[in-house]
Amino acid sequence: LTKKKRPSVIYLHCAECTGCTEALLRNVGPFFDELIMETISLDYCETVMAAAGDASHDALLKAMNNPEGYICVIEGGIPTKHGGEFGKVGGQTMLQLCSEVASKAMATIAMGSCASFGGVQAAAPNPSGAKGTNEALAHVGVKAINIAGCPPNPANFVGTVVHLLTKGMPKLDQWSRPLMFFAQTVHDKCPRQKHFNKGEFAPSFTSKEAKQGWCLYKLGCKGPYTYNNCPTQLFNQVTWPVQSGSPCIGCSEPGFWDQYSPFFSA
Ligand code: SF4
Ligand code: SF4
Ligand code: F3S
Repeated sequence: LTKKKRPSVIYLHCAECTGCTEALLRNVGPFFDELIMETISLDYCETVMAAAGDASHDALLKAMNNPEGYICVIEGGIPTKHGGEFGKVGGQTMLQLCSEVASKAMATIAMGSCASFGGVQAAAPNPSGAKGTNEALAHVGVKAINIAGCPPNPANFVGTVVHLLTKGMPKLDQWSRPLMFFAQTVHDKCPRQKHFNKGEFAPSFTSKEAKQGWCLYKLGCKGPYTYNNCPTQLFNQVTWPVQSGSPCIGCSEPGFWDQYSPFFSA
């Protein structure tokens, strides 16, 4: 995969917290610097690029006019109410910018649950009319791959980019998430499942039973309804929410936030 001519990536930011980028910056295997120096050419990314103002806009135009094309990554929900005027970059609404960039891309990746399904800014009452990429950009024919999660596992993003570059489009589930990462529920591979099966539920987060690995279902765990590979992939090869004592809060599902709260039952 490592080659002299690296494929161009344009990484756009919309309404969000930037946690997805923070997760990506901490990726291991490859590290972020290896990713952008050896695999892709990150030609535009508002959070990490040195350029600002006109220089950054020029970088965007140059990347968009690359004759070899580019991959578009979108992070954050896209405000759509009142023509999208709730979010602007360089005088353009995020809706305009994403429409222009993603509709001309070789492929588009929605990075995180905000970009996939709207995320926290799409929670009721959703004053800005924030939507996920595929809903907001359906009018220009964009069909993004959703790397859901809040934040998503950066390994799922990197794996999808590598798949796109080597084998083309990965197989997707009904919510446009790559099946290679989202085919099973968190519950399917959870090490606490043996306690779930025996009806052993931790009574509180601070209980000895919780520390002994009993199931967190009665404390609010949404693992049985949440498709993601957290228990096997781990975050940065270290841990994942349920291993650390927190219930899964359903962060990779459409409907996260409104349909998955309250997150904790204790
Ligand atoms: Fe932040 Fe989560 Fe949205 Fe990523 S998906 S930008 S981590 S709120
Ligand atoms: Fe399933 Fe959650 Fe219990 Fe794990 S902690 S077994 S994911 S309900
Ligand atoms: Fe999200 Fe649940 Fe994994 S909250 S990070 S899908 S354990």
